[in-house]
Amino acid sequence: MTGAAASAPRLRLGVNIDHVATVRNARGGDHPDPVRAAEIVASVGGDGITAHLREDRRHIRDEDIARIQAATSLPLNFEMAATDEMVAIALRHRPHAACIVPERREERTTEGGLDAAGQHNRLAPAIARLSDAGIRVSLFIAPEPRQIEAALRLGAPVVELHTGEYAHATGEARAIELKRIADMAALAARNGIEPHAGHGLTYDNVQAIAAIPQLAELNIGHYLIGEAIFTGLADAVRRMRDLMDAAR
Ligand code: PXP
Repeated sequence: MTGAAASAPRLRLGVNIDHVATVRNARGGDHPDPVRAAEIVASVGGDGITAHLREDRRHIRDEDIARIQAATSLPLNFEMAATDEMVAIALRHRPHAACIVPERREERTTEGGLDAAGQHNRLAPAIARLSDAGIRVSLFIAPEPRQIEAALRLGAPVVELHTGEYAHATGEARAIELKRIADMAALAARNGIEPHAGHGLTYDNVQAIAAIPQLAELNIGHYLIGEAIFTGLADAVRRMRDLMDAAR
């Protein structure tokens, strides 16, 4: 696919390195080190590092955050639940961005979007504390008008649209999901919110998303780390980058 969004600005690629830490933690040692992954991402033109410090520390650990920040000058997008503990950690490390995600201990990954509409009173103070510290707040939401409207009421400068439903759908259902994401990216942009997208993106499904002209950033993790086993992380990031560029 080429030229679908010919005049759109360059789309940033944030690489989520959580699953390097998943493999490391499987043996309880320090190899493979997510910091080395961050360095490789930086060396091949990745635009940012994304890392999710989960409540149960199943992949990224507290000490990884400072190590990642020290190892690369790429902006860190810190994915976090809106808890007092995570807000305190974010305030300590002051990442470039904090993406607030819903978190349930038993889930395998972040399965749905944040209910920004239903949790205004819980989210507002966390967003204010992060924003006051100069951290760019993003809300990971389903591509639904009421969630965009809620993000607007909460004053979030960025939303990340959850592409999981799109990634898992096939045929007509996928086309419907794609349109929802495109419509919500446009709605966010019209309201002055910078739209990002992520979850479940692969070489096969990334281009239709990358062609949405309002999107400014994609965050991609599991598939890239999986591909890195076969081709190396540098090759995997380069290939994803090439596919994204070709879609614009
Ligand atoms: N964006 C957010 C907010 C996420 O929570 C995740 C998964 O941690 C991703 C992007 C990356 O998703 P995937 O690992 O499926 O590429």
